[in-house]
Amino acid sequence: MNQTRRGFMGKAFGAVAGVGAVGALYAMKRSWDPLPSVKAAGFTTIDLSSCTANKLIVEKWRGKPIFVLRKTAEMVAAQNEAQTARDIVIGDDHYLVAIGLCTHLGCIPAYREDKTDFKCACHGGEFDSSGIETLAPPPSPLVIPPFKINGATLVLGEEGPEYSKMKEAGIVA
Ligand code: FES
Repeated sequence: MNQTRRGFMGKAFGAVAGVGAVGALYAMKRSWDPLPSVKAAGFTTIDLSSCTANKLIVEKWRGKPIFVLRKTAEMVAAQNEAQTARDIVIGDDHYLVAIGLCTHLGCIPAYREDKTDFKCACHGGEFDSSGIETLAPPPSPLVIPPFKINGATLVLGEEGPEYSKMKEAGIVA
C-alpha cells in the first residue's frame, strides 16, 4: 500500500515537475524570441521639427529617458568644436540628443534654461548643453543613443551614418 502510494506520489510529482519544466522552457523561448511589438518598441521616432529652441523635451527609449534639446543660434555660436561634434545637425538646426541619466550614479539631471546647462541634484554634477560634464562627480558626458536621421525625424535604436561618424570620432562607444 505504502509502495503504491509512493509510486503514485512520485508520478504525480513528476507530472507537476514536467509541467513546470515546459513552462520554464516556454518562458525562456519567449525571452529569446521577442514578439514583433517588442521589437518595434526598440525604436522611438521623434519629430524634431516640433522642438522649440532651449526647451528640453524628454522622450522615452527602451525604458530610458531621452533628452532632446534644440539649441538657439546663440548657443551654437558660443560652442567649441568638441561641443559641436556632439550635435545632431539638420539644416541650420543643432540638437542635443542624449540618454538623460547622469553618468555618475544614474540620476536624471534637470535642464536649466537660464544657464543652458544640466544640473544633477543627486551629487551636484553639471553638464553643458552638449551633455559634456563640466562639474564632478560625473566622470563622462551624457551618452548619445544610436540614432538615424530621416528627414526631420530622428529614429532612436538604429545606427545611421551620422551616428557612425560619431563612433569613428570616439564620441560614442
Ligand atoms: S548621480 Fe548625478 S552627480 Fe551623482
